[in-house]
Amino acid sequence: MSDSGNPSTGSVLVFDSGMGGLTIAREIMALAPGLAVDYAADSGFFPYGDKSDAALTARLPAVARALVEQARPDVFVIACNTASTLALEAVRDVLDIPVVGTVPAIKPAAGQSETGVIGLLATPGTVRRAYTARLIAEFAKKTKVIMHGSVELVQLAEEQASGQAVALEAFRKAQRPLFEADGGDQIDTVVLACTHFPLIRGELAATVPHPVSFVDSGEAIARQTLRVMPVQTLSPGAQGGRVFLTSAPEGQPRLIEVCRRFGFSDTQLCSVT
Ligand code: DGL
Repeated sequence: MSDSGNPSTGSVLVFDSGMGGLTIAREIMALAPGLAVDYAADSGFFPYGDKSDAALTARLPAVARALVEQARPDVFVIACNTASTLALEAVRDVLDIPVVGTVPAIKPAAGQSETGVIGLLATPGTVRRAYTARLIAEFAKKTKVIMHGSVELVQLAEEQASGQAVALEAFRKAQRPLFEADGGDQIDTVVLACTHFPLIRGELAATVPHPVSFVDSGEAIARQTLRVMPVQTLSPGAQGGRVFLTSAPEGQPRLIEVCRRFGFSDTQLCSVT
């Protein structure tokens, strides 16, 4: 039994635009080894961070429905801040299973900051969302929140994760605007508000101008996934380990290899219409 009182069986489909959601999948698997976990990447629409709200609002319910029809999970986890801060409700509306979203860990970061200044590293989409502004208004009233949206860091995370040699200087440069903003020298806590960024936590930590703590939502999402898992699971025999891609797998050797390293090796195409 998990700490939530639900049995650690059943199946979960963890979804992101690319490799980032693997950082959430690994937290879920660590917390509940008995769960069958599958992974899905919207490789046909990656990256999400620089897409318009209209394009993502149209895409997300359609891709979620197609994936759930094919994978038949008990719980669907949107392991993507860019998607969750825009379309969590729209995805819930088209699915009849529990949906867990991933949103920036602003509350814990504000709670632990001693300087009262926190940084938020995310995609440009997450930085401009009304949802993010609401989280700050609710949970970081007395905290200064400095945000930086970077598409480049997402690309760097995918390159680094797939074993390409990326110079440390690239990470330094990509996160520098956060610390060069007014008050940036006071930041003591940085929210990794994109699920790709825990993949490069070491590189980010090695290239910050002064020591900071990094906070992400991975563990909280894993706990929430167990909490919403139906007690009467629909697929008690599910094995997990599958990867669903929305573009031809032959075109995604890097993604497939990184998924395999995280334990997902049975690759299937999911067509989104
Ligand atoms: N992993 C996604 C997130 O958490 C975004 C990556 C992308 O831009 O596609 O925001």
